[in-house]
Amino acid sequence: MSRSVLVTGGNRGIGLAIARAFADAGDKVAFTYRSGEPPTELLDLGCLAVKCDITDPEQVEQAYKEIEEKQGAVEVLVANAGVTRDQLLLRMSEEDFTSVVETNLTGTFRVVKRASKGMLRARKGRVVLISSVVGLMGSAGQANYAASKAGLVGFARSLSRELGSRNITVNVVAPGFVDTDMTRVLSDEQRAGIVANVPLGRYAQPEEIAASVRFLASEDAAYITGAVVPVDGGLGMGH
Ligand SMILES: NC(=O)c1ccc[n+]([C@@H]2O[C@H](COP(=O)([O-])OP(=O)(O)OC[C@H]3O[C@@H](n4cnc5c(N)ncnc54)[C@H](OP(=O)(O)O)[C@@H]3O)[C@@H](O)[C@H]2O)c1
Repeated sequence: MSRSVLVTGGNRGIGLAIARAFADAGDKVAFTYRSGEPPTELLDLGCLAVKCDITDPEQVEQAYKEIEEKQGAVEVLVANAGVTRDQLLLRMSEEDFTSVVETNLTGTFRVVKRASKGMLRARKGRVVLISSVVGLMGSAGQANYAASKAGLVGFARSLSRELGSRNITVNVVAPGFVDTDMTRVLSDEQRAGIVANVPLGRYAQPEEIAASVRFLASEDAAYITGAVVPVDGGLGMGH
């Protein structure tokens, strides 16, 4: 079975691992990138690189048109693109807050809404949103990021009710701390502090997030929707 898959923010980090996992399994994979050159690793696997900033509605529309033309309507959407802009509340500007929400929550709304058109027509589809353990537990200095990631949970659960009768599942993966550019900016001391609270005592590798995403998009997960799947080494237990 070769499906048409789209992974936003697939040019690096977790998104790249997700795109690679679907391509390795034989799916047709498109991934978005914003600037520079897309990774040759994915191009060599036959993936379709689509330039797209998810904060721009026109670029999103263009990206979908290109994907539909080249590999068919999106059957599996992984909304992975996300940013952080950490700051304590009193120092957090309007721009710090709205730009993170605009990318992580509104950008996700935008790509999911567009994908849902084809899925509704096909009467099947899989949507996986990449949230974060921080959206469930909260994190000092990340009120903007946590709010956007918590918002994804309400968004997914609403859509799972709205789209379930059309055989479209909508699930959330909530990673803990993953070894990518996003967490490489943390100091050794901050990293040690985080790991001390993770029952499994280490960061995740991006491939470990990709494995859960692939499962939620697989036939084996046909009866799972509206779920929030933690892939966090036990960090968020109980949240
Ligand atoms: N790393 C972690 O510990 C962790 C934990 C929990 C959740 N997450 C979530 O997992 C997802 C991937 O994170 P990561 O660690 O792989 O981060 P990353 O290495 O910083 O990569 C972020 C990806 O998102 C893309 N992106 C950002 N803004 C975008 C926009 N406006 N339009 C299109 N693409 C955009 C980036 O594209 P460019 O290359 O063009 O910037 C990049 O591909 C994010 O949603 C993040 O919040 C990460």
